[in-house]
Amino acid sequence: MCGIIGIVGKEDVAERLLDGLKRLEYRGYDSAGIATVFDGAIERRRAEGKLGNLARELRDEPLPGTIGIAHTRWATHGAPTTANAHPHATREVALVHNGIIENFKQLREELIARGRHFDSQTDTEVVAHLVSERIEQGASPEEAVRDVLPRLHGAFALAILFRAHPDLLIGARLGSPLVVGYGDGETYLGSDALALAPLTQKIAYLEEGDWVVITRTSAQIFDRDNNPVERPVTVSGVSGAMIDKGNHRHFMAKEIYEQPVVVAQTLRSYLRRMENQVSLPDMDFDLGQVKRVTIVACGTSFYAGLVAKYWFEKFARVPVDIDVASEFRYRDPVLEPGGLALFISQSGETADTLAALRHAKAQSQIIAVVVNVPTSSMAREADLLLPTHAGPEIGVASTKAFTCQLAVLAALAANLARANGRLSAEEEAEIVWHLSEAPAAMNQALSHDAEIEAMAHLVAHARDVLYLGRGPDYPMALEGALKLKEISYIHAEGYAAGEMKHGPIALIDDNVPVIVIAPSGPLFEKTVSNMQEVQARGGKVVLISDAEGIAQAGEGCMATIEMPKVHPLIAPLVYAVPVQLLAYHVAVAKGTDVDQPRNLAKSVTVE
Ligand code: G6P
Repeated sequence: MCGIIGIVGKEDVAERLLDGLKRLEYRGYDSAGIATVFDGAIERRRAEGKLGNLARELRDEPLPGTIGIAHTRWATHGAPTTANAHPHATREVALVHNGIIENFKQLREELIARGRHFDSQTDTEVVAHLVSERIEQGASPEEAVRDVLPRLHGAFALAILFRAHPDLLIGARLGSPLVVGYGDGETYLGSDALALAPLTQKIAYLEEGDWVVITRTSAQIFDRDNNPVERPVTVSGVSGAMIDKGNHRHFMAKEIYEQPVVVAQTLRSYLRRMENQVSLPDMDFDLGQVKRVTIVACGTSFYAGLVAKYWFEKFARVPVDIDVASEFRYRDPVLEPGGLALFISQSGETADTLAALRHAKAQSQIIAVVVNVPTSSMAREADLLLPTHAGPEIGVASTKAFTCQLAVLAALAANLARANGRLSAEEEAEIVWHLSEAPAAMNQALSHDAEIEAMAHLVAHARDVLYLGRGPDYPMALEGALKLKEISYIHAEGYAAGEMKHGPIALIDDNVPVIVIAPSGPLFEKTVSNMQEVQARGGKVVLISDAEGIAQAGEGCMATIEMPKVHPLIAPLVYAVPVQLLAYHVAVAKGTDVDQPRNLAKSVTVE
């Protein structure tokens, strides 16, 4: 989603701002822009589409200036045109914005009535005019921003530049993250620490409602009541060097390949190998007292939650409700005080999930979060923080964050089961052993990459694809379909294998590949029956199973992908790999933009 970077610097900033934007590309965007102050005037360069277009603009017409702001925009209000690209500006101010100003229509009408002229269809431009108006009336930048912020409803991270003050920037945050970076004689604003990684590691995270005035050598932070406050300066773990594709063609491929290592890394925090025990960070509530778990997430993280529902109910016998975050709040769920509400998110900033978390908190739920960004809003608002250690995930389509989420959720399931007296020491030791085997099994799964690449053409020409699975493999079918849709733009549906005969079977013909995810085990026969229903109607099946499953049911399939034989608990972690690889190779075969698929954003910070 939109990205922000701002520099109050010693030297010209345009090149560095463009570099910062490149690091924000992964969030998804459809236009971009930069503004600086030079020679007493605000200058802007903006462009539709990829950053290459903005770079061309800058080459043709360089942008001098030692202070500037920059933005990648993911369109919400108004098409992704140059006129709607940020920064938005008047003669006096220029600003960039992430989030949505919900009352912008009313503010816009008010401003038009006062004779102001608008150049874009965005919600953001009203803020530029409101601040500008106050400056034109003689207010200082601080006074202007302080007066305008309470007028804005919705969610925002803002970075504001002032024509007459080429030595300061003002940032503000409500609902969308914003960080301050402390450099050597320079100060920065960024929508995350990653954007600032090559500039500085010293980061302060603004809290909700905070706003900040930065100069080259200082950052004065105020809270929502305009009281000066200090926010801790932390050293961010992300280095500028970490974010490259290594030997891979795409970040997504690199991240798929990183999985055995990052899953092992994640599991290290949750398994005590010597004692044969699973363990969680300290918590100040009794897991054994949890009578109901409510899981809330979006996208791929939601599917990790769906797998966890199977695990929590099977192993711990705790009832689980699960919702996509955008539905949760508005259906007004019944939440008994003391229930455990579990939020799963790679970014920890997804607006719907964060709003759901706050809703659950207000209903006296214990808040547990599984997040990959330990400094994110969700991490900071949790009672129990369960980090995944996937490292920065750049590909918009989530891969390694997903399998790390599964690893944490499996450990949580075992902990819940133990706390509920449903897991003997032997059973726990067995779970620890199986989970420890997961990274090696994922490695084996990766060894089928070339085979999967070779079969990608079987799917690449399809208009529709079905994914089928049962039990915990049903969410994997949903995830497989989502991956394919996201990056190859092929319409795909995930279905519970047994449900197929209630609708999707009508779609079956020899042009609709059906991907069946079915490790051998107790549910295998049932899934195979559904698979045969497909084959009986001329459907073309790709069976993903282990050697035993393929020996039993592989005949007559268009293709098979053999996975190692694994315990059902770790099957979702292992079967995620072929599902990701298939989507990846189909997308590469189709020539789509794998890491930044059209219309998608990495971290969706608007509702
Ligand atoms: C976006 C991303 C997905 C991700 C979802 C939830 O849609 O494109 O890959 O699964 O958001 O994001 P989160 O950061 O909350 O896991």
